[in-house]
Amino acid sequence: MTGPRPLPPQLRADALEWVAYDADCDERQLRSGLVRVRLLDQWRRPLPLEHDLVSAAAPIAVRAVVPDADDDALLHVNNRAFAWHPDQGGWTTRTLSERRAEGWYRDEDVLVHDAPDHAGRIDAFCWTKLHPATDGEPVLGEIYAIGVDPSAHGTGLGRAITVAGLEHLTRRGAAAGMLYVEHDNVPALRMYERLGFTLHDQRAAYLPAADAHRLDLGLDLGDPE
Ligand SMILES: CC(C)(COP(=O)(O)OP(=O)(O)OC[C@H]1O[C@@H](n2cnc3c(N)ncnc32)[C@H](O)[C@@H]1OP(=O)(O)O)[C@@H](O)C(=O)NCCC(=O)NCCS
Repeated sequence: MTGPRPLPPQLRADALEWVAYDADCDERQLRSGLVRVRLLDQWRRPLPLEHDLVSAAAPIAVRAVVPDADDDALLHVNNRAFAWHPDQGGWTTRTLSERRAEGWYRDEDVLVHDAPDHAGRIDAFCWTKLHPATDGEPVLGEIYAIGVDPSAHGTGLGRAITVAGLEHLTRRGAAAGMLYVEHDNVPALRMYERLGFTLHDQRAAYLPAADAHRLDLGLDLGDPE
């Protein structure tokens, strides 16, 4: 089982321009000398989860994060799980404070799982976010960030804490679950597929071919100009 492709800091979401992605998008952009460097999926599924999906998940105890007391442990697991990611990796206490200052933030929406036999360590978290209903949308419950410590990957913890997060969002009134995921993040995509999520839409970011080549992204970009 392989993990996601590492993304360099130059590909931070706020450093890129994003466009709605469709089947002809790459070809159109290529005509302007641009190549795709990121593809971000939005996946959704109706809530609540079916009973059999809930009962198939490993029973785990989760609790709400405790600010300050849990900060080091939360940053540790986040930065290990997202070491490959320019937006979600490399977080500091300042990043945490900035997120907590957002109007939508609530401690109760950040679920954590304590590592067994490791006092003070968190080995998984599911950070959720509620989007109030709008004219065209129901109340959406977002899996804002989810991470499992690499030492516990493949043990069912990711699935279990995602289920806990979706159950939490259902209790908060969400009619649908949603999340954003890199299109090549195979472990996460498999997990979401198995939980009944389907692709809702996609956004892509492009760079001039020469810049993309310099970043050495491991993409098949053809010959540099
Ligand atoms: C995605 C992540 C949370 C999965 O956690 P995990 O504990 O390893 O996953 P689980 O053991 O619960 O597996 C869940 C399902 O995904 C599948 N899966 C997990 N890792 C996989 C991999 N590397 N390749 C293919 N499928 C994989 C499992 O087969 C499992 O399917 P099942 O329910 O049919 O058994 C974990 O890999 C992680 O923290 N990744 C880094 C952070 C991240 O990418 N978060 C998601 C951002 S949107």
